[in-house]
Amino acid sequence: MADITDPPSYPMPRTCPYALPDGYRQLRERPTLGKVKLPNGKLAWAATRYEDVRAMLGDNRFSSDLRHPGFPVMMDHQVPAPEFSTSLVGMDPPEHTLARRAVATDFTPRSARLMRPRVQEIVDEYIDRILDGPRTLDLVDAFANPVPLLVICELIGVPFADRDFFLRISLTVMNATTPEAGAQGVAELMGYMDKLVTGKEKEPTDDVIGRLAARRGEAGVPDHRDLAAMAFMLLMAGHETPANLIGLGAMLLLDRPDLRRALSDDPSRWPAAVDEMLRYFTIAEIANSRVALADVEIGGVRIAAGEGVIGLTVGANRDPERFTDPDTFDLDRGDQRSLAFGYGTHQCLGQHLMRIELEVALRTLFDRIPGLQLAEPVEALRFKEEHVNYGLHALPVTW
Ligand code: HEM
Repeated sequence: MADITDPPSYPMPRTCPYALPDGYRQLRERPTLGKVKLPNGKLAWAATRYEDVRAMLGDNRFSSDLRHPGFPVMMDHQVPAPEFSTSLVGMDPPEHTLARRAVATDFTPRSARLMRPRVQEIVDEYIDRILDGPRTLDLVDAFANPVPLLVICELIGVPFADRDFFLRISLTVMNATTPEAGAQGVAELMGYMDKLVTGKEKEPTDDVIGRLAARRGEAGVPDHRDLAAMAFMLLMAGHETPANLIGLGAMLLLDRPDLRRALSDDPSRWPAAVDEMLRYFTIAEIANSRVALADVEIGGVRIAAGEGVIGLTVGANRDPERFTDPDTFDLDRGDQRSLAFGYGTHQCLGQHLMRIELEVALRTLFDRIPGLQLAEPVEALRFKEEHVNYGLHALPVTW
């Protein structure tokens, strides 16, 4: 077992897409919280037990301020430039409370339900394209990537004519392998968001950004710069994570005909399947990082003010103290709610929409293409070990 004087490196690769890395299990089994070494060489505490992660995320003495010198960023270039607004994700209360309240009306369970027909249309459009194309293809490229991107376009009101440009540049940012390529893509996208917001300020549109532009001046409603940053943040938060989970969920169902059969025999089990996929894969591995603003005791250690903590939900969501038989994908898990969408102040704003998106995407895919099969075994697939979110680079399928 790793000693606190020799902290293990973080993040740890997942050697099997269905299993928790052994190193995370070892961290969780320590009697107290342990430290890990980040790619930039800095150290941070890692909370891996369900109760510890929940305690930390529910405690506002931990800050989300990415610019705080103690914040556990993976790489130093991830600290946003001073002129860049961090929108909701990097804010703390009370500023965060007002800003979140201003946008929350667009992310209620009801708003998500109202989006369902449009999500269905987008999903159907991409399945039509698959059915019209070659019978062997990459499902990430043909389906998992574009569907959530178009849902985000709907949400933030990207005009139809701009969608090809938007898809290209978003994928450039998402797949950038060097800081330079990433920075260039971010600059191009921010320039686009700036123009998008200017257009909506002149002529308000019926979408999240358009509605906020029309409410300028109300408490918590972002000014021009912050609204452009919010559009950018919604794209970042709402594109890659769903894309990854649609890919992994499809892989799981292609690999497990028994699950597919259970869902086609009883489609009312889909919402449970979606929640279980969220827990089982816990793709947003590093989303729940914080820095302590005061000395706080968690998991048997005192975290000093200024120290960074990573809420390792991937470990917490496999914690046997909380989940029965945690390494099993169980459609009957019931109300054993996971921390896949985080917890507390910053809990995922897009979660209601996401559950619908995931269900509509996967359910329609398997209903409309029942003969879909993996074109390569799971062991041969390439996973995003080096990315901040876990997912598949490609998913070759045939039908
Ligand atoms: C499988 C899909 C998704 C996963 C696993 C996921 C996960 C998360 C997690 C763990 C957080 C908390 C971060 C923290 O505590 O620091 C978060 C926050 C957030 N998510 Fe998601 N998310 C998903 C999809 C989406 C979508 C589709 C949207 C938008 C349409 C979205 C918008 C947001 C926003 C705006 C926040 C920040 C909320 C705040 O800071 O108050 N997410 N998400």
